[in-house]
Amino acid sequence: MKISTAKKNNLTWFNGHVSRRDREKLHAHKGAVIWFTGLSASGKSTIAHLVEKKLHRQGCSTYVFDGDNVRHGLCSNLTFSPEDRAENIRRIGEMVKLFVDAGIIALTAFISPYRKDRQKLRSLFSDGQFLEIYVECPSDVCATRDKKGIYAKAKAGVIKEFTGISAPYEPPENPDLVIPSYKLDAREAAERIVNLIKHRGILYSPHLDNMMRADVSARAR
Ligand code: ADX
Repeated sequence: MKISTAKKNNLTWFNGHVSRRDREKLHAHKGAVIWFTGLSASGKSTIAHLVEKKLHRQGCSTYVFDGDNVRHGLCSNLTFSPEDRAENIRRIGEMVKLFVDAGIIALTAFISPYRKDRQKLRSLFSDGQFLEIYVECPSDVCATRDKKGIYAKAKAGVIKEFTGISAPYEPPENPDLVIPSYKLDAREAAERIVNLIKHRGILYSPHLDNMMRADVSARAR
């Protein structure tokens, strides 16, 4: 029989006096993960930050996790091999699970190219807590947007195992939303995602009311 690492190490999960539901009530929204997946320079990070800005204005507690940032610290020892990318996504998944328990809306912008890694992620969360957003953009379009010059380096073979050039990207089969960022403005994309978050019941009614009021006043301007 397979014994879990926790059991082997005599670890027990301790539940505190304040539950996730208590924290969610305080925030007036549920804890959730908005998981963006797509090629480098497809727009994941830009859109995630715009969604955060909109939610923050509605009084939501949010945080954006960005691939390049997390690889500076938590995942600085990892390469871009398939095994290390799996470990990157596993660590981030466990980290954002704690944020969901804290009642936060976590927005993540990682390439997360492998389907099986993303499937494992989804299994960490309850129904409705994990929304997968596929930011769809062909690699040649991403290359024209790339400010860091990494596509040119990847094409020249300076960067190895580069997603979309010399390493695979497996698009989600059943994402919660597809954002075709090659033909959609980032603001419009963010609006669609906020609408999805509303429709999935992540925000409690005071936020809904505020958002509706904000929408109405924005249209009136
Ligand atoms: S993931 O595949 O493990 O999910 P992650 O999102 O953390 O990747 O990091 C992607 C970022 O790392 C890219 O936006 C790019 O700036 C940088 N990068 C450096 N080398 C590579 C590579 N070989 N493939 C993809 N991205 C790379």
